[in-house]
Amino acid sequence: MFDSGGEDAGSCRKRKNRVLLPLEVGTKLTCRWRDDKYHPVTIIERKKVNDEYHYYVHYSEFNRRLDEWVKLDQLNLDATEADAVEKVEDKVRESGLKMTRHQKRKIDETHVEEGHEDFDAASLREHEEITKVKNIGKIELGRYEIDTWYFSPFPPEYSDCNKLFFCEFCLAFVKRKEQLQRHMRKCDLKHPPGDEIYRNGSLSMFEVDGRKNKVYSQNLCYLAKLFLDHKTLYYDVDLFLFYILCECDDRGCHMVGYFSKEKHSEEGYNLACILTLPPYQRKGYGKFLIAFSYELSKKETKVGTPERPLSDLGLLSYRGYWTRVLLDILKKHRGNVSIKELTDMTAIRSEDVINTLQQLELIQYRKGQYVICADPKLLDRHLKAAGRSGLEVDPSKLIWTPYKEQGG
Ligand code: ACO
Ligand code: ZN
Repeated sequence: MFDSGGEDAGSCRKRKNRVLLPLEVGTKLTCRWRDDKYHPVTIIERKKVNDEYHYYVHYSEFNRRLDEWVKLDQLNLDATEADAVEKVEDKVRESGLKMTRHQKRKIDETHVEEGHEDFDAASLREHEEITKVKNIGKIELGRYEIDTWYFSPFPPEYSDCNKLFFCEFCLAFVKRKEQLQRHMRKCDLKHPPGDEIYRNGSLSMFEVDGRKNKVYSQNLCYLAKLFLDHKTLYYDVDLFLFYILCECDDRGCHMVGYFSKEKHSEEGYNLACILTLPPYQRKGYGKFLIAFSYELSKKETKVGTPERPLSDLGLLSYRGYWTRVLLDILKKHRGNVSIKELTDMTAIRSEDVINTLQQLELIQYRKGQYVICADPKLLDRHLKAAGRSGLEVDPSKLIWTPYKEQGG
């Protein structure tokens, strides 16, 4: 039996559970994806468009960037796990709490079992919940129109527009193309603000101080969050330096990616967030940015590590970088090198050195110390698997001194 909720329930059948339409947030079922196959999904949100409901789904096998709005005909109602929704509703009844649909999903997601329920108000914060659905669908930036990946906390007046238009130089954003065109006639920036600290051919790096260029840095954070899932957006941009990588031509310096770095990191982080804009990904820029962050650490005579958590793509890129850099040295020194020496040469934190070598099964802990194995054939095999080294950083082209507080 179906309660169609105004929708045509069609011929869907469910043996054990009633499927109520419209489907509840939190319902688990399967959905036809772009490969034409059905994959397990959870309904994150729903909205009424004209007379039918659209559902925002998360594919449990895929990263959140692939979350999307789908229509009922893409969903397989036979695969509905209606219990998930019922359980949540029971909890609401038991606790006497009034919950939003988002909150119901939160409970479902964290698999709260009977008796372990803790309605921690903080964990139900609206802010967290809002990030479940992408608010901006696309952006225009320079020559590119780019589909976004994640929610970003733009000011509320921008949350109702599917597309935002960015000035590629000062990163100001507006809702309409005509507004952007008007802005471009007035904007006299042709490169990021701040100091150019590296130039090699058509590639340049600019260092932007979050305190001196607050608006630019905040705009960059809004933009970056569209492609970064786990990172909190730092409103306090004062505490950060931003390193902007640009491809330069006669029209100006076009941002391809960036990383941010705390001015003072107590945890020893040498990079907070890293991003290559999607049209420029898989061309070696990520490796360049990572290598650059370690070149800065070398100039500071410090070791460094990226801020955690790393995203799936971040981890792949770092693993590849660490593997190539460390194995190149092991090859050159035929294994006669200690962890400390590897760390000194590369500025890679010793834990990351050890983890990388452990993953590759190139290190053993014997009688209280690490022993590195450097069989040349094994090294070559791993190096091959780690892929290309990407765009090289030429340290001789870096003109930079570590950050010092003014007057300090
Ligand atoms: N699929 C499979 N492997 C990938 C992919 C992908 N989509 N993207 C990168 N990799 C791996 C590959 O091994 C690749 O080397 P290869 O192309 O030689 O095979 C390697 O990572 C790095 O490739 P690059 O071209 O140098 O890196 P890219 O310019 O694409 O940038 C980055 C990598 C910055 C992680 C990019 O994917 C990105 O901006 N992602 C979104 C934001 C993000 O997740 N940032 C990291 C968050 S963690 C943190 O900020 C500390
Ligand atoms: Zn501008």
